Amino acid sequence: MSNYKEKFEKMRIAGKLAAQTLDMLTEYIKEGITTDYIDKLGYEFIRDNGGYSAPLYYRGFKKSLCTSLNHVICHGVPSDKRILEEGDAVNVDVTAIINEHYGDTSRMFCIGRTAIKLNNLIDVTYESMMKGIKILKPGVRLGDIGNEIQTYVEKNGFSVVRDFCGHGISTTFHESPNILHYGTKNTGMEIKPGMTFTVEPMINAGNYDVKMLNDGWTAVTKDKSLSAQFEHTIGITENGYEIFTESAKGYSKPPYI
Ligand code: MF3
Ligand code: CO
Ligand code: CO
Repeated sequence: MSNYKEKFEKMRIAGKLAAQTLDMLTEYIKEGITTDYIDKLGYEFIRDNGGYSAPLYYRGFKKSLCTSLNHVICHGVPSDKRILEEGDAVNVDVTAIINEHYGDTSRMFCIGRTAIKLNNLIDVTYESMMKGIKILKPGVRLGDIGNEIQTYVEKNGFSVVRDFCGHGISTTFHESPNILHYGTKNTGMEIKPGMTFTVEPMINAGNYDVKMLNDGWTAVTKDKSLSAQFEHTIGITENGYEIFTESAKGYSKPPYI
């Protein structure tokens, strides 16, 4: 087994920067601002802290982070046309590169008062991610992660998006293995110390089918139901896991107080 201590040291720094970016954004994400403003603030914060926003120019993406609103599942493109309104929920997904390593994390943000059903979707989505993470240790198999998430989500009457998944991450943004958020126990690759990947379930209130918008990026629910997502970047240790993208402010899910 190669020594992964140095890699983890760098993943810790990248993960911390991504999480700090979300922490910083939290007080700004409210009624009346545009998603483009979130993008600008995120870009500047990462730059001013010695990093670079990974989404910018990634496969032709023209913004520095993703803002996925209401029925947008993922990869929503920040825009100066969309002003956040009371009742909206938006996922902000930040990926920072620093010292050639990537930190990738997202959280949901509620604008003013949001519907009870939406709050429940957000809670279940966060909890499903954490259930997928808490079982992690060497010997656990990739299908076990998906099974934890899927079982909990479906018990709560929601559905797991199939068309997007978590991913290995280190000195590249997206690398093997794929981390599916649905699956069967005791199947798939065994996880090993030193592995680094994301867990980022996308959960829909309705059906899991996806529709792509014409911009080539924005993925929405086909049935127009609401969707939520959280994401952490983690590393596998000798006897468990480490979350690299934990909030220093203790922000996990809304409300952030
Ligand atoms: N941050 C996303 C992920 O979790 C990827 C965004 S790629 C982009 O993997 F180009 F849309 F920004
Ligand atoms: Co990711
Ligand atoms: Co991400």
